[in-house]
Amino acid sequence: MTTCAEPVMPPSLRGKKILFGVCGSIAAFKAAGWVHALTKEGAEVTVLMTAAATRFVTPLTFAALSGRPAHTNMFADGMSHIALPAAADAVLIAPATAQTLARLAHGMADDLLSASVLACAAPVLLCPAMNSKMLAHPATQKNLAALREFGYAIAEPECGLLACGEEGAGRLAEWNSVRELLLGLLTAQDMAGQQVLITAGPTREPLDPARFLSNRSSGKMGYALARTAKRRGAAITLVSGPTALEPPPGVTLVRVETALEMAEAVSRHAQAASIVVKAAAVADFRAAAFSAQKIKKTTAEPLLELAVNPDILATLGRSRRDDQLLIGFAAESGNHEAEGKRKLLAKKADLIVVNDILGSSTGFDVDTNQVTLITLDSVEQLDLLSKEETADRIWDKALLLLANKRRRHGTEPV
Ligand code: CTP
Repeated sequence: MTTCAEPVMPPSLRGKKILFGVCGSIAAFKAAGWVHALTKEGAEVTVLMTAAATRFVTPLTFAALSGRPAHTNMFADGMSHIALPAAADAVLIAPATAQTLARLAHGMADDLLSASVLACAAPVLLCPAMNSKMLAHPATQKNLAALREFGYAIAEPECGLLACGEEGAGRLAEWNSVRELLLGLLTAQDMAGQQVLITAGPTREPLDPARFLSNRSSGKMGYALARTAKRRGAAITLVSGPTALEPPPGVTLVRVETALEMAEAVSRHAQAASIVVKAAAVADFRAAAFSAQKIKKTTAEPLLELAVNPDILATLGRSRRDDQLLIGFAAESGNHEAEGKRKLLAKKADLIVVNDILGSSTGFDVDTNQVTLITLDSVEQLDLLSKEETADRIWDKALLLLANKRRRHGTEPV
């Protein structure tokens, strides 16, 4: 077993070669920020601009931000419309205007950007931005449908106040969701077809209108599991207790407060899931009775009577399908392996992920974790890793266990 002192960086776009197309829209100023963010993350960004784009932001801006010349002219430097896309890991076009979408949908090659896309074998992500009527026009919709059919990914434009002063759909998508889509395009889709149910965060058990019982879970591990599985192509339902986290784009989010609400949401969604991960820190107890009035400190006997919450994971363990993979967590402050094994057997899980809640880089609300993966026949301690990296290792293990399970049940060829 090895451990490393420094946590690894979260999965990133470091070293990825991104061909970044900019078109003529006022949202081109946002593209400058995205080029800056990508470059800061270590991506190698080469910017291609349409003639209209140069009316909004100068090539010098993009050259300075990316550290590379921004290309605008098909005839300036030989075969750049072939050489540039050949070197790209992915193409990102933002903002993608109605004009450029039309050019690409019709396979046109009359400027450097459209010719480069035509000559490109790498995945393409389009981020449309335009007036809502232009977006809604059947011509644009038909072009978008054709582009989807070509296999291009589309970052759906958002609703809101547009630069023209109108309200509606057509705003450039937010960078965080575009970054996730881009990471997805650059990640092997080895979880495609998996329906994954994940619980995350704490539960909150109300005592009176002002107070509740809860715990220190931030939800970061469960959200990292959702984000990474989504990138790997899975369909995700995330049942989340109260957290301050932004939900990963593209997941079905079910918000709950109490353990009973979480139990109900899990039982509603578990049947359809091929993998269930209980990363939530479920409160074991709730108030035996909720006080509709605030409990006063002058109360004669300040005693709190508790009732035991159902164990959601153990309930799933009793009713799960044979071909379903059940993963639990064990938050421990001692006897990690023994406790993990005990919970694995008691809750009939396939895998228990044990984490040390006392460690300063493995406990609550930090971005790193060091876990032990316990199955019926293996114990594997992972290095200190980012929570996203830990999540990826858990998914690697889950896919292995699922494949073994299917082999045993004869539902997959050996
Ligand atoms: N869990 C659950 N329902 C509960 C309590 C726990 O589904 N009422 C799940 C957690 O989501 C986790 C696993 O059970 O996947 C272990 O949770 P943990 O809090 O470590 O253990 P407990 O079973 O609650 O036991 P203890 O608190 O005594 O260690």
